[in-house]
Amino acid sequence: MAAGPETDAVVAGMACKPARMPIEIRVTTPDEYRAAADVFRGALLSPPSTDDDWAKPSIVDSWSDGHSVSAWEGARCVGHASAFHFTTVVPGGATVPTAAITRIGVRQTHTRQGVLTRAMHRLLHDAVAQGKVLASLRASEAVIYGRFGFAVAGETWSIEIDRLRGVRVTAPTAAGSIRLLERDEVLGTIGEIHDLVGLDRPGAIKRPTWMHQRYLEDVLSGEKAAYAIVHTAPDGTDDGWAQYSLEWPETFAEHSGGVCEVADVWGADSSVELALWKFILELDLVERVRAEERPGDDAVRFALNDQRHYLSRCRNDEQWLRLLDVDAALVARTYNAATTPVTIAITDPMFERNNGTWHVGAGGARRVAGAAADDADLATDINGISAAYMGGTAWHDLLVGGHVQQRRAGAVAAADLLFASRPLPRCGSFF
Ligand SMILES: CC(C)(COP(=O)(O)OP(=O)(O)OC[C@H]1O[C@@H](n2cnc3c(N)ncnc32)[C@H](O)[C@@H]1OP(=O)(O)O)[C@@H](O)C(=O)NCCC(=O)NCCS
Repeated sequence: MAAGPETDAVVAGMACKPARMPIEIRVTTPDEYRAAADVFRGALLSPPSTDDDWAKPSIVDSWSDGHSVSAWEGARCVGHASAFHFTTVVPGGATVPTAAITRIGVRQTHTRQGVLTRAMHRLLHDAVAQGKVLASLRASEAVIYGRFGFAVAGETWSIEIDRLRGVRVTAPTAAGSIRLLERDEVLGTIGEIHDLVGLDRPGAIKRPTWMHQRYLEDVLSGEKAAYAIVHTAPDGTDDGWAQYSLEWPETFAEHSGGVCEVADVWGADSSVELALWKFILELDLVERVRAEERPGDDAVRFALNDQRHYLSRCRNDEQWLRLLDVDAALVARTYNAATTPVTIAITDPMFERNNGTWHVGAGGARRVAGAAADDADLATDINGISAAYMGGTAWHDLLVGGHVQQRRAGAVAAADLLFASRPLPRCGSFF
């Protein structure tokens, strides 16, 4: 057995944990991406990447499209965190620069030693220096990110529509036609349509090409019965698209047993979305239609002849948000008209400029210079304002959960009217 720090420690009867080299947190260089990727993959219980993986544009391009920070013990990568440069739609339709945080992982031998804490501080401070207004992410576990100021700002549902019961779309749908795309036209066509229709609600992002390549992998590879369809308006404009895969177990019994997994449905408005759903729900041999990441106000749910057979299988937290620049974020979004203004005192232990009081009314938000925090109608921390920002988490629920203090009667109800957003926030693109 080769001697190393571990065996030396045992022989000397010292503490079980060997002395470690200092861990350096720094920006990852392109030639280190694969080592960093393998640390992240290992942390998520996956095998190391293969040469085939690194030949895929969806992987290679995604690594060069962001800011990567990694932790190094000598020449060994032991942790990784990165952020894509996205823009996110906020209530009212403006978009703001966003650090879309991803690929967080620490080597099994190095967890609970502060590696993520150091990497996340570096990543968030770099994001502020780059002018990002928001940071957003998806969480593998709900206990990890609250300490960095993140909170759940939007939820999605895994759903199933049971076609055995004659469920169909009965609401009016957009006029137009639907065509199936050939494989070689999928990427270009979908990319163009998505740029037009994808920024459909608060939380949405513009998908880069590498993300389309990843989302459309089954359609592009031809290894599955997977299809992309396009809706075209009567004037010839392509105004919606969807993709789904089909599986039929070749049963000839009473029920056909076919399953359709819907991965995307996007339309210029809900009537286009419904035209796409109508097509999908009328596919032959399909008994069950399943979809992930559907918003709580999914149009198809309200458009069926029998709403009960839109089965909401599982509610998932989707977008975790952290305001990096509270002032810019509050100013960027709009608030509902005919509402009473509120003042909100906010604390942020990580970024000094985010501590203060804001006046929020139907006309917009502004910082109140020199206001005493105790005089504000509401008081919350960076997690509370990040949860409420998109209109997906009610101030009422934050109050019940102990995340906000109400100092003026009626202030929580007023804030809920101001911040409420329809459509509900949803990103709809996993990163
Ligand atoms: C999640 C992960 C990155 C945390 O890295 P880490 O270096 O161990 O985190 P830190 O040492 O900086 O921990 C900071 C704090 O968070 C807590 N914490 C971190 N991850 C936690 C987890 N999964 N469960 C419970 N607590 C956790 C730590 O106990 C510590 O608490 P303390 O400050 O009260 O002592 C690491 O556990 C990991 O790689 N997990 C598997 C991959 C994964 O889930 N990645 C996230 C993808 S979204």
